[in-house]
Amino acid sequence: MDVIVADYAGFCFGVTRAVKQAREAPKPVASLGALIHNRQVVEQLAREGVHPVNSLEEVDSGRVLIRSHGVTPEILAAAREKGLEIIDATCPYVARAQRLARKLAGEGYQVIIVGDPGHPEVKGLLGWAGPGAVVVPHKEAAANLPFHPRRAVLAQTTQPEEKLKEVAAALRSNTDTLVVHNTVCQATRQRQEAAVNLARQVDVMVVVGGKESANTRHLAELCRATGTPTYHVERAGELCRQWFINARRVGVTGGASTPAWIIEEVVVMLAEEEKVMFPEDEKEPVKAP
Ligand code: F3S
Repeated sequence: MDVIVADYAGFCFGVTRAVKQAREAPKPVASLGALIHNRQVVEQLAREGVHPVNSLEEVDSGRVLIRSHGVTPEILAAAREKGLEIIDATCPYVARAQRLARKLAGEGYQVIIVGDPGHPEVKGLLGWAGPGAVVVPHKEAAANLPFHPRRAVLAQTTQPEEKLKEVAAALRSNTDTLVVHNTVCQATRQRQEAAVNLARQVDVMVVVGGKESANTRHLAELCRATGTPTYHVERAGELCRQWFINARRVGVTGGASTPAWIIEEVVVMLAEEEKVMFPEDEKEPVKAP
């Protein structure tokens, strides 16, 4: 059984940077929300003195770490007012979208954000986009908006580019002047494309990452949509022998918040499984119990 790891599997640039900043920060430090959507990494960081909090109300002094999703300008101002030392790990691509949103709102555009209204990046971005800004999760919601003379569209960095295009197309009927800024991060697109390409070439696909990680779940959905049986696991211990019966090629990828060591653990476990399922003196795979 060949085990092939997809290109771009695991931590993206922004997450690598945020974890490094958390590790290098003087301790203790309060992280405003779990630093990334990966329980194992959050627990490891907690042991090193990085403690997640739900809001600034829980931090009266010391340091606060802003995660890669970024926050609203109001939260930054409140942290300064409290005299907290701010360690800003906002991903530079997210920070760019925030600056753009503020500039466009200042120029009189109604800012439309294509994204998931419940995602922390979108909640943060909304705070930079002026009082008239609207979050639009899909083209149907865009088509239902009332007329506005000037609109500017940008996207949550992890949205599919296709959705940004669809929303922009839907807005043309209810807007006079429409400007579109593609703020989608290429890391997401590259990871998804590599995973889908690999899924098409293998018998089984394993997607590794937090169950609460939206980008990992989406990665699994994309792989599954190719027709290749796809399993989403958080840790190697969840792998099930039955999944790999008759599989000659297994693909592995990981979400943007999955550390390399957890992906490695899965690859090692699959190699171990191979020894059980495909003993050297057997030509055909043994039947799983
Ligand atoms: Fe940044 Fe893109 Fe990762 S926006 S946090 S590099 S997915």
